[in-house]
Amino acid sequence: MTGPVGSTVHSASAGKAWPVKIVVTGGAGFIGANLCAELATRPGVERLTVLDDLSTGDEGNLSGVDVELIRSSILDAGVVHRVVGAADAVVHLAARPSVPRSVADPMASHHVNATGTMHVLEACREHGAYLVAASSSSVYGDAPALPKHEELPTRPRSPYAASKLATEAYVLAYGATYRMPVLAFRFFNVYGELQPAGHAYAAVVPTFIDAALRGLPLPVYGDGRQTRDFTYVGSVVEVLADAVLRRVECDRPVNLAFGSRTSIVDLAGELSVVFGRTLDIAWQSERAGDVRDSQAADGLLRELFPDVSPVPLAVGLVRTVAWFHGRPGSAVTVVSPTGPDVVPLGEMASELLPALAGVELRAFRATADYDDEPWQIENFVRPLPGKTELSLVAMVAGAPVGFLVASRRPEGVHVHRLAVDPGHRREGIAAGLLTRLVAETDGTVTVVCHPDNTPALDLYLRAGFRTVGATEAGKVLLAMPQRRAEPAGV
Ligand SMILES: NC(=O)c1ccc[n+]([C@@H]2O[C@H](COP(=O)([O-])OP(=O)(O)OC[C@H]3O[C@@H](n4cnc5c(N)ncnc54)[C@H](O)[C@@H]3O)[C@@H](O)[C@H]2O)c1
Repeated sequence: MTGPVGSTVHSASAGKAWPVKIVVTGGAGFIGANLCAELATRPGVERLTVLDDLSTGDEGNLSGVDVELIRSSILDAGVVHRVVGAADAVVHLAARPSVPRSVADPMASHHVNATGTMHVLEACREHGAYLVAASSSSVYGDAPALPKHEELPTRPRSPYAASKLATEAYVLAYGATYRMPVLAFRFFNVYGELQPAGHAYAAVVPTFIDAALRGLPLPVYGDGRQTRDFTYVGSVVEVLADAVLRRVECDRPVNLAFGSRTSIVDLAGELSVVFGRTLDIAWQSERAGDVRDSQAADGLLRELFPDVSPVPLAVGLVRTVAWFHGRPGSAVTVVSPTGPDVVPLGEMASELLPALAGVELRAFRATADYDDEPWQIENFVRPLPGKTELSLVAMVAGAPVGFLVASRRPEGVHVHRLAVDPGHRREGIAAGLLTRLVAETDGTVTVVCHPDNTPALDLYLRAGFRTVGATEAGKVLLAMPQRRAEPAGV
């Protein structure tokens, strides 16, 4: 395969076929532990080994994941050779991350990020292992061009950025010199579950969420207009897992982000939407080493990984906030509602609609303000033993096109089925059903949604639901506070 500007890229090399034994350096860290959880579910992975000194990572991040953890530094060449010698592929994530940390101690960042990478490369060279490594968008520095494409000159503005440039330069140089199968990714601002808050070097998303949960203002450095390409960790690990299992190679660095551009104040705004209240800002002076704007050109990534579909920021933030809610010590009550999941939009549960035949429907005023299709919502209440079930059905020209089933629970009205005929404008009808339900009830309406059900999460957010917690099964709990109903009519 030939890349867009003449570089050579390959996928699905003739290297070792499945099953593969994989080493993840830094695998107890934020991205590494998410990756291990993903790889553990993939067919073809025979063994997973993590090499991590737990300097910023945490053994607890790997609980429940079938991995062997070797607690050691990548600066110990003997251990690196022994561990890599038993593997077919290495995902090299171990590093001293963070710009401010490197400003405080540049030599330590150099040792781990540059010298440590050399140890990993030497071991891969000796044992013939495939290598995927993490570089960083910080290598672009403050070059003004946007989006950042891989052919731009690099201009590191911090010791961290310089050390990550050394990481990728060595990886690609080994690939060229020794004809080794390698791939160097430039990560942008990755966020998501397991990313820690509460320390001086924490990244912006967990810092904001943590502050919001404590009722504190969000700390914003400078004017807050600096922009970032926030990438949900689930999207990053999907690409990493695909890369290692297909042994994707490239002779130049590849951006691992999808070309979005969000300012820090807009991020605060997105989180205000997720939390359902305006989050205050505590303005701080500008930080040394921070770049102004960052946005990836994603052409090469899309060429190498055409099937990947990134999780939108709003949905990724909901999942992340839900994870924060569900952590031990969280101030938010974790509930464990019963009942089936929300039916994914587009799956019309046709079994329910015939059940409406003969039920006396009470019509409400049509609320067709979401789209131009004339539709109305009707209601039937079907008392079931032990609970009151509320059901709403949306009708177009007398025919049912969607429905919602909910029941009253001590913690509020709980939606457990929502389906809309894919032949109609689904978002508008589904949002209309939810709005109508809220207007009909006298308590908080809650819904439980699988975190991977992106269309449904997106829909709930647009309908005004806010993340309030997580269930014990790891699902997202969203709520919409009760609003006063308009007089029902017709
Ligand atoms: N998170 C981001 O937004 C982002 C952006 C750009 C690049 N990256 C890169 O992605 C990689 C993973 O970052 P992360 O966000 O998961 O950070 P992290 O701090 O959670 O993970 C790094 C892991 O490496 C381990 N480690 C550090 N020094 C080590 C050593 N000498 N030997 C063995 N293990 C060591 C740490 O204990 C930790 O588990 C890093 O290479 C980082 O530079 C991350």
